[in-house]
Amino acid sequence: MIQFGNMILQWYTKYKRDLPWRTKPINPYGVVISEFMLQQTQVPRVIEKFHEFMRLFPTITDLAHASKSDIIRAWSGLGYNRRALLLHKFAQEVCEKYDGIIPQLSKELIALSGIGPYTAGSIASFAFNKSEPAIDVNVRRIYMRYFHGRDQGAPMGKKQEKELYDLVKKTIPNQKSCDFHNALMDFGSLLCRRKKPLCPQCPLTKSCTFYPLYDKKKDNVLHIVKKKQEKGVIENGKHVPNRIFRGRIVEFVRNNDGKAFTITTLGKVIKKDYSVKERLWVMMLVQNLERDGLIHITKKDAKLQLRLQN
Ligand code: ADE
Repeated sequence: MIQFGNMILQWYTKYKRDLPWRTKPINPYGVVISEFMLQQTQVPRVIEKFHEFMRLFPTITDLAHASKSDIIRAWSGLGYNRRALLLHKFAQEVCEKYDGIIPQLSKELIALSGIGPYTAGSIASFAFNKSEPAIDVNVRRIYMRYFHGRDQGAPMGKKQEKELYDLVKKTIPNQKSCDFHNALMDFGSLLCRRKKPLCPQCPLTKSCTFYPLYDKKKDNVLHIVKKKQEKGVIENGKHVPNRIFRGRIVEFVRNNDGKAFTITTLGKVIKKDYSVKERLWVMMLVQNLERDGLIHITKKDAKLQLRLQN
């Protein structure tokens, strides 16, 4: 266990990525922003948006006092706009309940908006160096491979989740939770990748229980787990998740705030091969965005007037 943690840390000293939220000293607010952005969005896209967001809302108080529409606008390009509203609510709750000071422990963090077990652990670790596991898909994959000789597989039951949590906790090197978790993130993204892991370059092969599945001729491992397909529709012959269309609607409303449109116009804007048969689907997307508090709909004759929520 100790050996695993130290090997990962040693690898990290050589290969660590220089990411804008890994500041010295650490800015806990910056860590929170990065973690909300990194839920479901790739690192390169987050890097592009992080500085601008921090410039617009430099402190948690600025964010708490900003309007929803300003935050949704600043979130443009990151997708999953609902996260922007949860982040806003998180900032307001920290200001109300904790006087603007971000709490340090998972059990306090998890009670706040937008925070699940992973984000609670990641803020505790990255912002406050607390020895609390932060298990995202990358971390899960690394541990399942190294200790259990298989890819992450089907969703795990409560008991297995708890076992994984306990295992990760045991491997966190003393007083090094922040570096260790950063190391895991980089290791999972650069080396122990979901597709085509770079086993020949890995310093852990001697003790890794997944390495025997590595096939030198194919230069790949057997049994790579496929991503589950998200709900969506076919656009120009390709499956496109509904979340992409949701993002396109919000982007459209950002640029046409308060104007009225028919469903057909909106359908054509968001989907290249839109057909009238998809009217109900567009309506469902729009209504779900309203339900999630992102947009406001007013019916005007046969048209919908769409606005970002204030
Ligand atoms: N994904 C989630 N948190 C991350 C972090 N701090 N660094 C890199 N990737 C991440």
